[in-house]
Amino acid sequence: MSKKSPVSRSGRFTDGPAADVAQFTESISFDWRLWRHDILGSMVHAAMLKKIGVLTRAEQIAITRGLNKIGLEIRAGKFQWKPELEDVHMNIEAELTKRVPAGAKLHTARSRNDQVALDVRLWLRDEIVLLLGDIAGLQRALVSLGEKNSDVIIPGYTHLQRAQPVYLAHHLLAYVEMLERDCERLWDCHSRVNVCPLGSGAIAGSTLPLDRKLVAKLLGFVNASGEVQLTQNSMDAVSDRDFMIEFCSAAALLAVHISRLAEDVILWVSAEFNYIKIADAYTTGSSLMPQKKNPDIAELSRGKTGRVVGNLMALLTLLKGLPMTYNRDLQEDKEQLFDTTDTVRTTTRLMAAMLKNTKVNKPVCGCAAADPAMLATDLADYLVKKGMAFRQAHHVVGAVVALAEKTGKPLNQLTLAELQTVDKTFSRDALGVFNLKTAMAKRNLTGAPGTKEVAKQLARWREQLS
Ligand code: ARG
Repeated sequence: MSKKSPVSRSGRFTDGPAADVAQFTESISFDWRLWRHDILGSMVHAAMLKKIGVLTRAEQIAITRGLNKIGLEIRAGKFQWKPELEDVHMNIEAELTKRVPAGAKLHTARSRNDQVALDVRLWLRDEIVLLLGDIAGLQRALVSLGEKNSDVIIPGYTHLQRAQPVYLAHHLLAYVEMLERDCERLWDCHSRVNVCPLGSGAIAGSTLPLDRKLVAKLLGFVNASGEVQLTQNSMDAVSDRDFMIEFCSAAALLAVHISRLAEDVILWVSAEFNYIKIADAYTTGSSLMPQKKNPDIAELSRGKTGRVVGNLMALLTLLKGLPMTYNRDLQEDKEQLFDTTDTVRTTTRLMAAMLKNTKVNKPVCGCAAADPAMLATDLADYLVKKGMAFRQAHHVVGAVVALAEKTGKPLNQLTLAELQTVDKTFSRDALGVFNLKTAMAKRNLTGAPGTKEVAKQLARWREQLS
């Protein structure tokens, strides 16, 4: 048995935990990251305790100064974390109490159960805001790449087969839309993270007349209308991790979006597509094949999606069998949350940096986009405009494509006479359909990849993201 006994055991226990128990139960090795928010929460708790008369003014000042000093030491890397004190909360409180006797009053009407719920909410609130900034950075990188190559047309794909021509910018803006929905989900999740649980105690609040509103106000737990946000059930407040799951879910979808973008980049950079070139600093080499330049940022971003999805599953599974209220299982929530946050923030930033250092191979794109087969639907539309039913037009153009294949000609090289062997509705203007510029100008529905519409969308995003 270890002789060192943490405060949580004093009185009730005769000795500290066995060394392997201490090692098994500690969380300081990962929850030290909550230190800033733990200190902030404690400072505000102390201010509230002073207001209700539990602390004198001098005690409050001593506690605040003590916490501030500890914070500076942690920031400077000079603070000695002690695993035998289990977690960040007890490490900071124990050190404070060693230095400031009034520190012993700080835990009045507070449990680590509401404290950890508070710390994680404060921490996550900040991380969401930072992540939203990172996502905006990636959106900007996509918009810039689209703007720099606003005249570039590429094949749009379905089933990874050439389908219809689109502006490269239109393809890139599809990701901007996806990322915008991620932002909306994260911001919505933020509103449920931004609720103050302090004052819930271990499970049942406190008999002391705490001022929960003051704490919440000082910590910024207010909604857009300025109303203070307090948890309304002490049992729910200490055992609720829904807000983390919501975040990890929104983050998993973000990771999936980034993974899809990564996949497009990986395809486009391959010799087979050759649409883009990533700057050397954002690619890696092979240890064996000297000629290789690999898109590892994109590959790792795609690969890391697995752990982000896994973290969501782990959290859901963690919660599913828990009886009310706090159970120590909940300590297992943090590593997943931290890992998800770190992973999505880094991949978002790195993908943005990579795109900023990516050049488009315009001649290759131009060549691929010039494939006239992709305008077969336009030819069917041409027949529809002449009064033919679409189903019939589809059949006729299918026969035209078969004829082109049989004669070994690209679709736009067939003569009017050849077209008319398939259907007499074709006239002189039929071959004009294959003018790519005109074809792109015609796609002017809202949300379509037409020349004017894409320019409008680029301008809208530029404005929205500035
Ligand atoms: N380190 C713990 C956690 O992360 C803090 C709460 C501990 N509460 C308790 N009653 N043991 O969940």
